[in-house]
Amino acid sequence: MIEISRKVEQLAPSGIRAFFDLVLGMKDVISLGVGEPDFVTPWHIREKAIFSLEQGYTSYTSNKGMPELRRQIAAFLKTRYGMNYDFDEEILITVGVSEGLDLAMRAILNPGDKVLVPEPVYVSYRPVVELAGGTAVILKTGIENGFKLTPRQIDKACRQAGQGVKALMINYPCNPTGASYTSAELQRIARVAKKNKLFIISDEIYDELTYDFDHVPLASLKGMKDSVLYFNGFSKAYAMTGFRIGWVCGPAKVVAAMTKIHQYTILCAPITGQLAAQEALKSGFKSVQEMKSEYKRRRNYIVRALNEIGLECHMPQGAFYVFPSIKSTGEKSMAFAQNLLKKKKVALVPGVAFGPSCEGYVRISYASAYDSLKEAVSRIDGYLREK
Ligand SMILES: Cc1ncc(COP(=O)(O)O)c(C=O)c1O
Repeated sequence: MIEISRKVEQLAPSGIRAFFDLVLGMKDVISLGVGEPDFVTPWHIREKAIFSLEQGYTSYTSNKGMPELRRQIAAFLKTRYGMNYDFDEEILITVGVSEGLDLAMRAILNPGDKVLVPEPVYVSYRPVVELAGGTAVILKTGIENGFKLTPRQIDKACRQAGQGVKALMINYPCNPTGASYTSAELQRIARVAKKNKLFIISDEIYDELTYDFDHVPLASLKGMKDSVLYFNGFSKAYAMTGFRIGWVCGPAKVVAAMTKIHQYTILCAPITGQLAAQEALKSGFKSVQEMKSEYKRRRNYIVRALNEIGLECHMPQGAFYVFPSIKSTGEKSMAFAQNLLKKKKVALVPGVAFGPSCEGYVRISYASAYDSLKEAVSRIDGYLREK
């Protein structure tokens, strides 16, 4: 039998997938586990996709993505955030932010280069660094700082890790904690990144789901454009996960390097998705605002309800996740999640799926109907009372 590459053999499977294999096949489970909107893509966007197929748009596109879409993204970023990107040299359309993150790592890392990766963080970050031959230097964040990185921590990590720290990955609003950064906090992070000559990989896929203050892209801060790769996409804000369209903006040299890998491995993002994305940017913003206001209502409910039943839960500033502590139960997060699933048929994600330092927490997605959330809280309450 063929041997599998050592790098891949050593890669741990996604903790979320492993847990959700358990959920498959069970009936009447309320799943608060998946990280995708419960809304379907707004109808006018779906209609555009269907019509494009009827019109015969079934071909490859330019490797970088359709120029019209890249132009629209450039214009959108200019009006939304005052950012200036050249549509032809500084923007690449990817198969979701997922592909973009992988391309970025492969484009910038040499063997042994170090990348600062926060924890808890989205499950793909460490694997994409390691698959590209880099070493992830984990920066733990905790409730004491609202699950945010601090400039001091970044500075210290650079000093301790010594030579070869090339980049910092950051995701805000964050999956799984919902933590986000204010403009002032970002300024401080930008300053320390500059000081340590860090290139920043900034995944802002949840930017439109920021509830308590305005989202500020790191790349929009003065003097930061050349030091940041800015990632965004259509999956979350427009409920378009299945269309698989993301984008990355950054220095032309880095985007060109990423495009080289993209053209050999992916060729181009699917045309149906790119056309749907154009429609989303043209007239989808009202739907984004409607979904956001519903997520906010659910966030306010679930944070209050979890605290009331005895699970300490901070108020997240964005995305659609809460990250309550289950320390008061005395159970490990995997045992808690498995027992809750078995006894009460509620599925959530054990904290350890996001890194070993996340023991004692679980991730609950509130991208689920309000009534399902209420029923889930009542079942969790029942579980806690029976313990
Ligand atoms: C932080 C973060 N980045 C990237 C992704 C992947 O998004 P996409 O669908 O654009 O590949 C996700 C999906 O859950 C995510 O939570």
